[in-house]
Amino acid sequence: TPAALVDSFGRTVTYLRLSVTDRCDLRCTYCMAEKMTFLPKRDVLSLEELARLGDIFIRRGVRKLRLTGGEPLVRPDVMDLFRDLSRHLKSGALDELTLTTNGTQLARHAQTLAACGVRRVNVSLDTLDADRFRELTRIGNISRVFAGIDAALGAGLKVKLNAVASLGAFEAEVDDLIRFAHARGMDLSLIEEMPLGDTGLDRSQSVLSLRDLEAELAQRWTLTPSRRNSGGPARYVQVAQTGGQLGFISPMSCNFCALCNRVRVSCTGRLYTCMGDEGSIDLRTPLRTSEQATVEAIRAALRTKPERHRFDISRMASPAVARHMSALGG
Ligand code: GTP
Ligand code: 5AD
Ligand code: SF4
Repeated sequence: TPAALVDSFGRTVTYLRLSVTDRCDLRCTYCMAEKMTFLPKRDVLSLEELARLGDIFIRRGVRKLRLTGGEPLVRPDVMDLFRDLSRHLKSGALDELTLTTNGTQLARHAQTLAACGVRRVNVSLDTLDADRFRELTRIGNISRVFAGIDAALGAGLKVKLNAVASLGAFEAEVDDLIRFAHARGMDLSLIEEMPLGDTGLDRSQSVLSLRDLEAELAQRWTLTPSRRNSGGPARYVQVAQTGGQLGFISPMSCNFCALCNRVRVSCTGRLYTCMGDEGSIDLRTPLRTSEQATVEAIRAALRTKPERHRFDISRMASPAVARHMSALGG
């Protein structure tokens, strides 16, 4: 078998986050600017090319593949890509095929995803309140997300909720989110807002340190370290009162880069070795040349993967990275 993908700090890449579109049917205020311009369709890789990229990474040791966006489910025919990639689950080359979604189109796709061997989906939901959801997403309708979650659970998928933490209303609502998730057997992960892309808002006014939030939560809930801690970005605790799992993704207040096992590819075929870094290299041209050329480009990029991101919670007023979160889907 071909040699694994290892970076210059000895970290092995076993997890690929592949963005299938930069478009989204929502406009979350921490993610996008109010007026976003999207890539022209001709710059976006075909589904066949995305599948071929997945194949190449899987042959070099990637065991977990997550499709992201923008919103992955707004890409027409994206189920064909899931179907295509699912052969790696059947062959045993891949442990997990999954996606991160805003849930608005999940009702329509849940059954097909389950049939493709997807076992788990991550759904982004920061509030349970319809008006606040509209404010946060600028254009969203929360009932579609609830319907998506119900359909996913109904199709037998495990669902994890992701919520970006912020000062104020979020703190007032987080207990309800915990109860909502855990009552339905879903894990909930809280995420520290990261300074990616100009959104027109000053993030220093909204950012909430999860270290502080966890201390607040510990006054109301009994939190004990979970057995589930696997070295991913989320550090899980068990909530005694609900029996559910609560994750903290704290890039700034609790750095997890030493165990990083992942890279990201944009829908234009650019490889990003770190979320907190501008650096990227083109895979589209080598992909259109040969597998050999593509692997050489990937290995060259891995030599530039930084040891850690440079996000700093005390410097949130301006973006640390120019690209928006939506360019890679987190
Ligand atoms: P699991 O497979 O459930 O552990 O999911 P995941 O955390 O790998 O993926 P998900 O798409 O649910 O990511 C949740 C949040 O964590 C998103 O906001 C991501 O941007 C953030 N995140 C995931 N990986 C990294 C990372 O390597 N670095 C940083 N800074 N943030 C990350
Ligand atoms: N910081 C942290 N998380 C973000 N997300 C979007 N923008 C940001 C940001 N600036 C989250 C979404 C989704 C995941 C893909 O990334 O809410 O859960
Ligand atoms: Fe869309 Fe996700 Fe960005 Fe919200 S956070 S605008 S759902 S890509």
